Amino acid sequence: MDVSEPSVYEIAGGDPAFQKLVDVFYARVEADPVLRPLFPVDLEPGKRWQFLFLTQFFGGPPRYAAERGHPRLRQRHFPFPIDQQARDRWLAHMLAAIDETAIPEPARSEMRTYFERASAFMINADVEPDNLMKWQPPKQS
Ligand code: HEM
Repeated sequence: MDVSEPSVYEIAGGDPAFQKLVDVFYARVEADPVLRPLFPVDLEPGKRWQFLFLTQFFGGPPRYAAERGHPRLRQRHFPFPIDQQARDRWLAHMLAAIDETAIPEPARSEMRTYFERASAFMINADVEPDNLMKWQPPKQS
C-alpha cells in the first residue's frame, strides 16, 4: 500500500493541468506589454522548460533534470532584467493562471506560496532608468 501523501503534481491533475497552466500563463505574458519584451522572440522553448520544471518541482517525473540538469533558476534569470514591477506582473499572471486552470486545494495554496516566494528571489534589477539603459539583450544562440 502506498502510504505517501499525494504530491501537488498529482492533486493538481498531473501533466494536463500543468500544460494548461503553462499555456494560460504564457498567453498572458505574450499579451503583457511590460513582460513580453523581456522574453525571447520564440516563446516555445521556454514554455517547454517551464512545463518540465514545474511538473518536476511539484513532485512529477524528473524530466527537467534529465534534459537540463540542475535548475540554477536565479542564475538562469540573470540575462533578463527583472525588477519589482516585472516580478509583480509575472506573479499576477501565474496566480491568475492557477485559478483559470482551477487547480484544487491544497495544491492551489502550496503553489501560490511557492510562486510568491520564489518570484521575489528572481529580482535582479532595480527600476532606475539608468540601469535599464545599460542592459543589453542576451545573445540568442
Ligand atoms: C517562481 C518564480 C519563477 C520560476 C519557478 C521560473 C521558472 C523558469 C524556468 C524553469 C525557466 C526556463 C529555464 C531554462 O532555460 O531551463 C524560466 C525562464 C525565464 N523566466 Fe522565469 N521563473 C520564475 C520567475 C520569473 C520572473 C519573476 C520573471 C520576470 C519577468 C521571469 C522571466 C523569465 C524569462 C524571461 C525566462 C527566459 C525564457 C526563455 O528563455 O524562453 N521568470 N523561468
